[in-house]
Amino acid sequence: MNFHVMTLFPGMINNAMGESITGRAIKAGLINVNAVDIRDFAINKHSRADDYPYGGGAGMVMQAEPVYLCYRHICSQIQKKPLQDEEGIIKKEPGIRVIYLTPQGKVFNQKLAEEYAAEKDIIFLCGHYEGIDERVTEEIVTDYVSIGDYVLTGGELPALVIMDAISRLVPGVLNNCISASTESFSDNLLEYPQYTRPAVWRGKEVPPVLLSGNHKKLAEWYREQSVIRTALMRPDLLEDAELTQAERKIADGITRKNKI
Ligand code: ADE
Repeated sequence: MNFHVMTLFPGMINNAMGESITGRAIKAGLINVNAVDIRDFAINKHSRADDYPYGGGAGMVMQAEPVYLCYRHICSQIQKKPLQDEEGIIKKEPGIRVIYLTPQGKVFNQKLAEEYAAEKDIIFLCGHYEGIDERVTEEIVTDYVSIGDYVLTGGELPALVIMDAISRLVPGVLNNCISASTESFSDNLLEYPQYTRPAVWRGKEVPPVLLSGNHKKLAEWYREQSVIRTALMRPDLLEDAELTQAERKIADGITRKNKI
């Protein structure tokens, strides 16, 4: 998986991705992070990539040309040239996803992470200030994505969130390959609670079934706990979850009680 990030702050991307599990995945060659500084493509001698907004108003707007040159540079690195028609008008590069991080986009979720994990190259466009000249986003962006209904200072943290969620789906990145598929949000259910030693902590015991060694009982307990937890914490997810009649009854009992 190759992540390409168009950003004014490449250090933010490299530092965060270079740590922990993603850092190990980079060293192992499972993922690759190519953070490209938009300022390197500035078209004035002060290396500024922003300017005042037409029509006035507060703040600065990122200019179209540095963003576009940065995009072309990445396309040539991927060895795919962006298309131009006879008048030199730009066409989107077919087949490469260019994700613009913006609170106006569709809200990121696990399903989208799975979809992106199937790509070989993904380009992220991180905005700053009051946004990016609309003409270039219109031309190069394929996906407008938000990480939630709040406004951040720039697109770097959202890009990192999305790259992290994708990376852990890349085969080999998590050493335990079962964990990527059994935890929260698979089947629209949250993950069951986890415990580790000691068996009694400050007088609190771990649920006895976990010490029983009975795999069938254990699987039933995990599933039931997932249903209970989802009903308690995120009942909205249950609408699209596939539950047995008995599980639906347990869930309905909890959600009804919580409404009272
Ligand atoms: N840029 C600023 N806020 C954002 C958000 N919530 N999601 C994605 N990009 C953003």
